[in-house]
Amino acid sequence: MKRFDTIYALRHYLQTVRHSGRRIGFVPTMGALHEGHLTLIAAARQGDRLPHPTSGLSQVGGEPVVPDLVVCSIFVNPAQFNNPDDLARYPRTVDEDCRMLEAAGCDVVFTPSVDEIYPDQPTLRLHFGELETTMEGAFRPGHFNGVGIVVAKLFNMVQPDVAYFGQKDLQQVAVVRRLIRDLSFPIELIRCDTIREADGLAMSSRNRLLSPEERQQATTLYQALSLARDLMHEDRSPAQAKAAVIDLFAHRPAFRLEYVEVVNADSLHPVIEQQAPGQTAICLAAQLGKVRLIDNIVF
Ligand code: PAJ
Repeated sequence: MKRFDTIYALRHYLQTVRHSGRRIGFVPTMGALHEGHLTLIAAARQGDRLPHPTSGLSQVGGEPVVPDLVVCSIFVNPAQFNNPDDLARYPRTVDEDCRMLEAAGCDVVFTPSVDEIYPDQPTLRLHFGELETTMEGAFRPGHFNGVGIVVAKLFNMVQPDVAYFGQKDLQQVAVVRRLIRDLSFPIELIRCDTIREADGLAMSSRNRLLSPEERQQATTLYQALSLARDLMHEDRSPAQAKAAVIDLFAHRPAFRLEYVEVVNADSLHPVIEQQAPGQTAICLAAQLGKVRLIDNIVF
């Protein structure tokens, strides 16, 4: 696996790759890698290591592109943190990350410094319309501007043919889909399933910030989502499913529930009745101690 810290060296290497006709798959991350991230690498590596080789991938438009070379970036992007403590606390484990990436079959890792990505503060501002006023957009003002700026920069640096994002951050997938369409990036977007711990907790770099007691309590998120999904399978309305989640969290004082929404899985518009299979998402965010956790299920 090759490792580059500068845009110049990365571009120089990838130019020769592209000139030889090889296609590039790209997995952007902020490091502190876990199985969820590695599944995105595996998806880029033809999906052969996915737990569910076909169901794990849902492709957004066109025939799936199988890349010849897999690039991963590790960059804790200050522009997307709206809370300075969250940025300061964010785990950084780049050497261990590189070992994991190499073992997972990643070809190139890009580990730029903050100055490399932001020689100046960007003056450009991105706004993703209605995606800014709901869920993560509403609770983390400016977050998607920061995500959009860094993803656009990374797309320009790597120029991938296909990029892999996790369903764990469902609203981010919608934001990146808009970014690709609005700025005409010639990039296929692949959404990969959320990978969970055995007890249902969605894997997340922030999980390692939980105390042992909080780690146990954190399973509440998946329990709440499963409860809401089961109620909707029993023909209860989205409003009833939401009310059940709010009630569940009311009995878990360790948490502060920020939102729970039943939405269309692609548009993220709220839904008031049952959708076709695979079209409904229940999304929530909750603060547990100092750690903010998000999760969703699509069904
Ligand atoms: P990060 O949180 O490191 O996540 C990198 C990618 O891994 C994202 O696409 C995320 O959705 C995916 N991911 C995280 N946990 C997952 C899980 N349990 N199962 C499946 N996929 C999972 O998301 C970001 O970084 C940043 O916003 C980034 C896109 C890199 C821009 O800075």
